Amino acid sequence: MTAFKSTTCSRNRTAVGGGATGLLDQTLLKSLLGSLDGRRYYICGPNAMCNLVIDSLGALGVPNHLLRRELYGPPAQITEESVWPSNLPADTRCQVAVEGRGEFDVAANETLLNSLERNGVEVRATCRSGECGACRLQLLSGRVVVSEQTCVREADTVHGFVHACASYPIEDVKVKIP
Ligand code: FES
Repeated sequence: MTAFKSTTCSRNRTAVGGGATGLLDQTLLKSLLGSLDGRRYYICGPNAMCNLVIDSLGALGVPNHLLRRELYGPPAQITEESVWPSNLPADTRCQVAVEGRGEFDVAANETLLNSLERNGVEVRATCRSGECGACRLQLLSGRVVVSEQTCVREADTVHGFVHACASYPIEDVKVKIP
């Protein structure tokens, strides 16, 4: 028999629907799951969360073979993917101008989303893996590369939108947050 347990857990300090809050560490997992025996675990979400859950379950004695995870997140090294221009040094820096928000010096090998957040520009984001489209930006000028694992909708490409969490500026770019 297969049974799934559903619990609302929010990262905010205020619980949503009476659920738990905070990081899914050993303490929270133990309180949410109770007995860990005889279960398999399917872990899905941002890499940082998945890694924490896997480490925490491991520390609680769950063997590795009972863990399944989805692979999410930006690649470890975009500069090692075939989309990265072979003549572009890995330490290239670019200017990113955000319409109405300023201009920033960024590392080309960092996602636009991370670079903008690092400079105090808030961009709506959910999956941080190029999947949901929440972080869409309109690319007004310049070029970006997109990691191989990312599926960009044709409509986004046609209308000049990029997913900030999966796009890397390979030259000076100008973007607009819709
Ligand atoms: S946050 Fe989901 S596509 Fe970027």
